[in-house]
Amino acid sequence: MAKNKFKILIVGFGTVGKGFFDLFYEKRDLLKLGNVEISEIIDSAYGHIIDPNPKDPLPLKTAASEQNLSVTELIKNSDADLVCEFTWVNYTTAEPALSHIMAALHSGKHVVTTNKGPVALHFGSIMETARIHERLFKFKGTVMSGTPSFDLMDLIPGAKIKSVRGIMNGTTNFILSRIREGKDFDSALKEAQKLGYAENDPTNDIDGLDAAAKITIISKLLGWGHEFGDVERTGIRNVSTEEAKRGTKLIAYADKDKIYVKPTEVSDDILKDVNGTDNAIQFDTDTLGRITMIGPGAGKRETAQAAISDLVNILRISR
Ligand code: HSE
Repeated sequence: MAKNKFKILIVGFGTVGKGFFDLFYEKRDLLKLGNVEISEIIDSAYGHIIDPNPKDPLPLKTAASEQNLSVTELIKNSDADLVCEFTWVNYTTAEPALSHIMAALHSGKHVVTTNKGPVALHFGSIMETARIHERLFKFKGTVMSGTPSFDLMDLIPGAKIKSVRGIMNGTTNFILSRIREGKDFDSALKEAQKLGYAENDPTNDIDGLDAAAKITIISKLLGWGHEFGDVERTGIRNVSTEEAKRGTKLIAYADKDKIYVKPTEVSDDILKDVNGTDNAIQFDTDTLGRITMIGPGAGKRETAQAAISDLVNILRISR
């Protein structure tokens, strides 16, 4: 690195932002990141926090002169090297995250996000902006939190991926597991909400939008050109107890010709044993056959791991 300190600006200090903040300081010594610091936090509830105390980040420190500045202006004015964008997901416009990401790249900052909206809806323009500004844009946390998923591609150079499928939504997998055990849909959904698994709007999970965003992101990375709106999508509202008992899962699938999310019986496959909130992804490759990865797909610490992985990769590449 040209300069001594590598500074991080966090935008969005909800569950993911707080999880990243805590995990960063927990792992900082282990990862030998003494010259990396979280220098700013911007959040709609807490304002603009400068030089947050690692042990107590929340005292409000917004300068009076900044109170009329927009988040994108604050991002542009910041001297951070990296912006971690952790605001809420929006599958219609991808805002406000899209503007935050673009402001960061345009002002010469690398970006890490866990937000699926901008990546699923505007992958091409974000990657092009990153390329023009010679910055890195990383989004591991958008698919299966910190559990390896599309990052497998970096480990198998030359392998051709023929198709991808998986269980990419923990909430629906949890609900289907409960239905199989005899619960009805509504009480299983309520339990998932109580446990904090469901998205703010549970229809994002139940009707397959979350899984559709994830399979779109993977398809974009593989150059298959499917758009979010192309995903043939059926959620789990009409899965019967009998179907759940036979091993029906909400499966996301893509190859170069098709992309879908729909309840599918997987009784003859390892996916039938992926239960509760666990996720799984299978790549069908020309050199290794089928590769399956199983692990958590959500959670505060689990998603923070994804952002830490992206941070470490950015430091490795940009140093
Ligand atoms: N609501 C999502 C899930 C969270 O249940 O998998 C992670 O995208």
